[in-house]
Amino acid sequence: MNLKELEALYLSRQSCREFTGEPLDDALVREICRVALLAPSACNAQPWHLIAATGAKKAEIVKAMQHLGMNKFASEAGAIVVVAEDKSGGIMKIGAAFKENEFVRNDLGILTAHLVLAAQAAGVGSCILGWRDEKELRSLLSLSDKVRIPEVVALGYPAKDYPVREKKRKPLSETFTLLSD
Ligand SMILES: Cc1cc2nc3c(=O)[nH]c(=O)nc-3n(C[C@H](O)[C@H](O)[C@H](O)COP(=O)(O)O)c2cc1C
Repeated sequence: MNLKELEALYLSRQSCREFTGEPLDDALVREICRVALLAPSACNAQPWHLIAATGAKKAEIVKAMQHLGMNKFASEAGAIVVVAEDKSGGIMKIGAAFKENEFVRNDLGILTAHLVLAAQAAGVGSCILGWRDEKELRSLLSLSDKVRIPEVVALGYPAKDYPVREKKRKPLSETFTLLSD
């Protein structure tokens, strides 16, 4: 893949807020997650765990993303992937002594980016959902109070004729500086 092709993938990836409601095949969801989990992390600690739901649990998780009328579209997602911390690995314990914990949040964000791009490459739409009730999610998934869940990702097939929006991004002059000497 060259840079132009990668750019085309980035441009096609967008927050999809209208899914068809069609179920997503478990094997496809697993494959998207497997590829995303190739993401880099500080000290290669991989302080994460992806929990994907395609069945009854999905509906329960979705409710925890919809307080105050938010994220209604997520009800039609074919799968929900919860991006959770998992700091149980040995490297994390060693890393904690050197304050590597600070990087955990970054690592999970990088994983989330890999996840939505992997989904797009597989022809599956996505939306990162930061609006969530973490406490409720932890209870639904029987996770300890200490486990943070920074993001949840809704996956699904975009509705027919769902438009590819033009990317609205700050101009490069505001977000990029080149120091060449
Ligand atoms: C950490 C994070 C949390 C987000 N939370 C939500 C959310 O709860 N609901 C939603 O509809 N979109 C959510 N988004 C999507 C952003 O609004 C979206 O990425 C941004 O407007 C850029 O649009 P694009 O993804 O279509 O390029 C979130 C995005 C990120 C990165």
